[in-house]
Amino acid sequence: MPINPQTLAAARNGTATREQLAELLSLTDPADIAELHAAAYATKKETVGTVVHFRGIVEFSNVCVKDCLYCGIRKSNTAVERFTMTEDEIVEAALWAFESEYGSIVIQGGERQDAPFVDFIERALLRIKKESGGKLGVTLSLGEQSLETFQRWYAAGAHRYLLRIESSNRELYQTLHPETHTYDERIAALSDLRTAGYQVGTGVMIGFPGQTALDLADDVLFFRDQDIDMIGMGPYIVHEQTPMAATATEDFDGEANLDLGLKMIAVTRLVLRDVNIAAATALQALNPTGRELGLQAGANIIMPNITETKYRSAYQLYNGKPCLDENSTMCRGCLQRRIDSIGETIGFNQWGDSPHFAKRTSK
Ligand code: 5AD
Ligand code: FES
Repeated sequence: MPINPQTLAAARNGTATREQLAELLSLTDPADIAELHAAAYATKKETVGTVVHFRGIVEFSNVCVKDCLYCGIRKSNTAVERFTMTEDEIVEAALWAFESEYGSIVIQGGERQDAPFVDFIERALLRIKKESGGKLGVTLSLGEQSLETFQRWYAAGAHRYLLRIESSNRELYQTLHPETHTYDERIAALSDLRTAGYQVGTGVMIGFPGQTALDLADDVLFFRDQDIDMIGMGPYIVHEQTPMAATATEDFDGEANLDLGLKMIAVTRLVLRDVNIAAATALQALNPTGRELGLQAGANIIMPNITETKYRSAYQLYNGKPCLDENSTMCRGCLQRRIDSIGETIGFNQWGDSPHFAKRTSK
C-alpha cells in the first residue's frame, strides 16, 4: 500500500496526529520508506540545506554517577576501566578541531555534579574560548546539573547543551532508569537549560523494548512542543554488561532499529523542519554507511570523534561502536569522502546554528 498522501501532507504542514505520525513510522515497504526519506530530504533542502555541519566530539570521561539500565558506562558496571582526560588533553582536542576547521565541538562525558568537576569544566571552557579567540563553538553533553552550574558553564563559553529525554513517555522513561532517576528532574533540567540561555538539544533512544510507534510519534510531538533547537537521537543497541541486556538481547534486531532510526529522522525533519538533526554514530554501529543514510533521511549534523584513540575503547555506551582504532585525522578524511559520496558539502569554520534557534530568539 503506498503512503497515504494526506498523511504525508499533514506531517509536512504540522497538522499530523500522533496516529498519522505512527503510520509513517510503521511503514515497511522499501518503496514507501524511500518516498518518506525523499520527502524529508526535500524539506531539509528547503530549510537547512545540504551543507553538513561538524561537531567534533570529545568523550573526555566515563566516570558517571548515574546508573541508566541501558548504558555501558553506568556506575555499576565494574568491568569498565574509568578514565578522565586532563584539562590539557581536552583543550588540545578542541584546538585540533579548531585548526581542522570544524567550527564547533561537543564536550561529552559521564554525569558528575561535585564542585571540583564543575570547576574543571569551567576552566576547560575558559581556556578553549581564549585559545580559539572565541571562535570555536562549544556544546556540552554532561547530563543533569543545577541551574547555577548551567549558568556558570554558559558564562564560561558554552552555548549549546544536549540532554536527551530518552523517552518522552514517563512510564517508559522509568523502565530505562532506576527509581532515583526521575522524569520530572529531566524535564526540569531541560527547562533550566532554556532559562540559562542555551540552544537546547534533546532526543530519544529508538527501538528499545516496550516502545511502540505511537510512543515515537509522541516523542516527535514532544520535540515540537518543547520548541527544541537541535535533535540527537539514535537507535538503541544492546550493551552486554547492562541490566537491559537480559531482556533486550533475544529480541534485538539491529536492522529494524536502523530502519526505525532513519524513519524517526525523516518524520522529525518533516514535522520540525528547521532544526538541526544529528546523524548519530549509533547508526553506523548498525550499518557501515549508517550516518550517510541518516543524512539522506533528513539529518544535517555529524559528530566526528576527536577523542584521543587511547581512550576510545573505554567509552562504549553500546556494542559495536565504530572508529575505536582510528584517530581524529583519519575520521576527518573518512567523513569527507563519505559526504562527498552523497553529493553534500561540509560547512567548515561555521557554527551552523539551526535556523530554528535564530527565529526563536528574534521573536
Ligand atoms: N544504545 C544506544 N544509545 C545509548 N546511549 C547510552 N546507551 C546507549 C545504548 N545502549 C545514549 C543515550 C545517552 C547518550 C549519551 O548515549 O541516549 O543520552
Ligand atoms: Fe572515524 Fe570513518 S569516521 S573512521
